[in-house]
Amino acid sequence: MESPISYIKCFPFFNFIVYEAKMKKKSDPVALFAELYEKILQSGALEEPSAMTLATATPDGKPSARVVLLKGYDEHGFVFYTNLESRKAAELKINPQAALCFYWEPIHYQVRIEGSVLQVPEEEADAYFATRPRGSQIGAWASSQSSQLKDRTELETRFRETEQKFEGETIPRPGFWSGFRLAPQRFEFWERRENRLHERFLYVRKNARWEMSLLYP
Ligand SMILES: Cc1cc2nc3c(=O)[nH]c(=O)nc-3n(C[C@H](O)[C@H](O)[C@H](O)COP(=O)(O)O)c2cc1C
Repeated sequence: MESPISYIKCFPFFNFIVYEAKMKKKSDPVALFAELYEKILQSGALEEPSAMTLATATPDGKPSARVVLLKGYDEHGFVFYTNLESRKAAELKINPQAALCFYWEPIHYQVRIEGSVLQVPEEEADAYFATRPRGSQIGAWASSQSSQLKDRTELETRFRETEQKFEGETIPRPGFWSGFRLAPQRFEFWERRENRLHERFLYVRKNARWEMSLLYP
């Protein structure tokens, strides 16, 4: 069994989470993600711990990546919300494969998740949209995300017009705005170690089970 002593000297206590999962052969990557995410939330080390890079690609293999916020997760998948006419949504429509990547820099973790993506049910999107601040709801209506914008005034005018249109009313979710759920097929947990001998713990979904293995750093 590997000794964690050298790790204790070099890194704060929460840097044992992946090491421990590996040693105990924890077989549920979603539970491991939850454990890490909870620690990160509690640490207060990051302003946006839910920020994750989302990579999509065209069917001919041209990738694109951007940051979105994680709005929920469980064993069924990882959820984010966006404009359905955006570049990412257009790519997901024809190629529903995506990758997520979290980097929690102050505590030296990376989590990579890959899988296929489905739009969330309408009721789920409605329920989430209803929890958003009014300004963000209006912003969703006002933005033709990823389309060319003439100038900032145009966007601000659209915001004000939408504000007036819905004045005194509950704002419904735009039909062109919803969420996607990425159902994970592969997780990789990366934990920093000295001399760049980092821990890389991989889970791959096979025959309805998670197979675990290690990767060279
Ligand atoms: C911290 C952060 C959080 C973001 N969260 C979201 C989000 O949850 N949904 C979203 O559509 N865009 C979000 N964005 C904006 C995207 O990065 C991106 O600019 C936008 O979605 C358009 O991407 P696309 O043209 O590739 O579709 C966020 C950006 C940052 C920096």
